[in-house]
Amino acid sequence: MAVSCIWLMFFFSLFGHGVLELVEAFHHVYLNVHQTAQYSTSGNQPYRTSYHFQPPKNWMNDPNGPMLRLGIYHLFYQYNPKAAVWGSNVIWGHSTSTDLVNWTPHDPAIYPSQQSDINGCWSGSTTILPGGHPVILYTGIDTENRQVQNLAAPKNFSDPFLREWVKFKHNPLLTPNSKNKINATYFRDPSTAWLGCDGNWRVIIGSQKKERGLAILFKSNDFVHWEEAEKPLYSANKDTGMWECPDFYPVLIKSALGIDTSSNGPDVRYVLKVSFFRTPHDYYMIGTYNPDKDIFIPDNGPFKDSSLRYDYGKFYASKTFFDNKYPLHRRILWGWVNESSSAIDDIKKGWSGVQAIPRSIWLDKSGKQLVQWPIKEIETLRGTQIELPYQVLSGGSVLEVSGLTAAQADVVISFEISDFIKAEVLDPSWTNPQVICSRKDASVKGGLGPFGLLVLASEGLQEYTAVFYRIFKGHNKYVKYVVLMCSDQNRSSLNQDNDKTTYGAFVDVDPVQEKLSLRSLIDHSIVESFGAEGKACITARVYPTLAINDAEAHLYVFNNGTENIGITRLSAWSMKKAQIN
Ligand SMILES: *[C@@H]1O[C@H](CO)[C@@H](O)[C@H](O)[C@H]1NC(C)=O
Ligand SMILES: *[C@@H]1O[C@H](CO)[C@@H](O)[C@H](O)[C@H]1NC(C)=O
Ligand SMILES: *[C@@H]1O[C@H](CO)[C@@H](O)[C@H](O)[C@H]1NC(C)=O
Ligand SMILES: *[C@@H]1O[C@H](CO)[C@@H](O)[C@H](O)[C@H]1NC(C)=O
Ligand SMILES: *[C@@H]1O[C@H](CO)[C@@H](O)[C@H](O)[C@H]1NC(C)=O
Repeated sequence: MAVSCIWLMFFFSLFGHGVLELVEAFHHVYLNVHQTAQYSTSGNQPYRTSYHFQPPKNWMNDPNGPMLRLGIYHLFYQYNPKAAVWGSNVIWGHSTSTDLVNWTPHDPAIYPSQQSDINGCWSGSTTILPGGHPVILYTGIDTENRQVQNLAAPKNFSDPFLREWVKFKHNPLLTPNSKNKINATYFRDPSTAWLGCDGNWRVIIGSQKKERGLAILFKSNDFVHWEEAEKPLYSANKDTGMWECPDFYPVLIKSALGIDTSSNGPDVRYVLKVSFFRTPHDYYMIGTYNPDKDIFIPDNGPFKDSSLRYDYGKFYASKTFFDNKYPLHRRILWGWVNESSSAIDDIKKGWSGVQAIPRSIWLDKSGKQLVQWPIKEIETLRGTQIELPYQVLSGGSVLEVSGLTAAQADVVISFEISDFIKAEVLDPSWTNPQVICSRKDASVKGGLGPFGLLVLASEGLQEYTAVFYRIFKGHNKYVKYVVLMCSDQNRSSLNQDNDKTTYGAFVDVDPVQEKLSLRSLIDHSIVESFGAEGKACITARVYPTLAINDAEAHLYVFNNGTENIGITRLSAWSMKKAQIN
C-alpha cells in the first residue's frame, strides 16, 4: 500500500489557528483587468474548437494549478488579456467545472499587483494543504525583471468557486540569490509541493546553470519559509538548455489508479517530467525517489532529446494533479497545445492556444513507460454513432466513414494483421521516428502499411491529415517487429503558411500478440491521436481550407501498403459541443 505522511501534529498546528493568521497576513488586491467573460470572437471561425478548452479570445499557454476541491475542478491558465500573441504581462485565467468537460469562466485569479509580480504572473501549481486548503505558488516577474516565487491563497474558503485570491504580504518567498547562484532569468514554474515524513514540504523549480537543466529543490516546514536543498532533485549531465514546468509525482506499480503527490511506499515509482524550452517538448523519466537524500534516480537516465515523451506532436508545459472525486482515484494530465499557424494568422483569428483533453495517466504494466487515455467524461459528448462491420482493407484502398460530423468526432479503430511476410526491414540507421514518418509519409507505399485514418479530409483528398501505422521487421533477434505511428500534416491544408511538420513515435507493442488500435479526437483544428490503447500519443494542429466544418470535412480509412489489413472494429461518434467559457 502507498502511505501518506500527513502528520496529525502538523495538521493541527497549521490549521487549528495557523491558517487564519496566514490569510490575515495576505495583502488584498482588487480587480483591475477586464473580465474574460465579456470577450467574444466574431466573424468566420472555422478553427475554434468545440470541446477542447480555450478562452473566448486572445492568447493562452500553460495550464496552471489544476486541482479538485469540494467536487469542483479548477483550471488556471497563462493568459494574455490584451493580445492573441504571448506577452510577458501574462496573468492567470480561471475556469471551473464539475465534469472536466463543460467550463464556467471566472475573473482572472492572479494578475500583477505587488512588487514581486508587477511585470508578469507566470506559471505555477496548487498544493492542497492538510485540511483541504489550496494554496498557489507561482512565478512573478518583479520590479527588477527577476523571476521569483510567490504565494497566494483563496480570499474566502467558503466560496465554492474560489473566485478571489489574495497574495501573501511577504512575497516573494523564493528568490534567486547570491547563495544559490541562479541566474534570475532562469528560475521559474514551481511544482505542486509534496510532504515528506520529516514534516517538510518540498517543491521543485525549473532552472539551468551553464546550459544544463536543473530541477532545484526547496524545503519548508510551514510553506512560508523556504530553503534551497544542497542538491537539486535532478540535474542534466550535459547541455539541455532551460527546463520549464517540472512535475514530480508517484505512480503505482501494476495499477492504473492515481495516488496523492505526497504518497510514498514500496509499490510506488516516481515520474519526473520537465519541459525542454529548446525543443520544445515534454520529456519524462521513471525512477526511484530517495526521500532521505532527496534525489531522483532515473531507471534509464539521463534526460536527453530521445527520452520518453508524453506526446510526440504539439504538447508542452503540461502539469498533472491527483483527482480523488468519489469514487475516482486517478492522476490527470493537462497540456498546452500551441498553434501551428503564423502569428499573423493568430492575430487575424483573435486567439491562440488550446488545452488537450485531460488524460488519465498511469504506469504501464511493463513499468517502462506511462500510458495515457482521454478522461472517461469526454464520452458524454458522443452523439450519433457509426459502426463498420468487420472488413478487409486491401492494399491501395480508401474507404469513407460517412454519417457523422467529421470535423468534430471521436474515432476508434482496431486492426488485424494476419500475415507479416511483406513487412519491410527497418534500416538500422533509421532511429528517429519523426524523420522516418516524414520520409515515408502517407503517400509512400509500403509492405505493412501505411494504414490508418485520413481525418479532416476534403472530398477529393486535396487536403487531409493522415494518422497511420507502419510495421517493420526488426533488425535483431530481440526486436521482431517495430511499430511506427505517424501523424502526417503535409497535406493538411492548402495554406502554405502553417507549420506542417510530420510527427512520429515508435510504439512498444507486439503486433503479433496484441491488436493494434488507434483513437483520434478530431476537433476542427486539432487531432489528438492515441496509439495502442494510449502507449503513444501524437497531437497535431491543422488548418484545412476546404475540409472545414461538418459539411465539408470527411473521414476515411486507408491502406497504402501491399498487404491486406483487417479492420476488426471501427466505432465513430459525432461529438456534441461542450460548454466552454
Ligand atoms: C464567502 O463565500 C460565501 C459562499 O459564497 C458567501 O456566502 C460569503 O458571503 C462570502 N464571504 C465573504 C466575506 O465574502
Ligand atoms: C543571465 O542570463 C541572461 C540571459 O541569458 C544574460 O543576459 C545575463 O547576462 C545572465 N546574468 C548573469 C549574471 O550571468
Ligand atoms: C508555437 O508555435 C509557433 C508556430 O508554429 C512556433 O513558432 C513556436 O515555437 C511554438 N512554441 C511552442 C512553445 O511550442
Ligand atoms: C497512396 O499511395 C499513392 C501512390 O504513392 C498516392 O498517390 C496516394 O496519395 C497515397 N494515399 C494517401 C492517402 O496518401
Ligand atoms: C509534402 O508534399 C509535397 C507535395 O505535396 C512534397 O513535394 C513534399 O516533399 C512533401 N514534404 C514532405 C516532408 O513529405
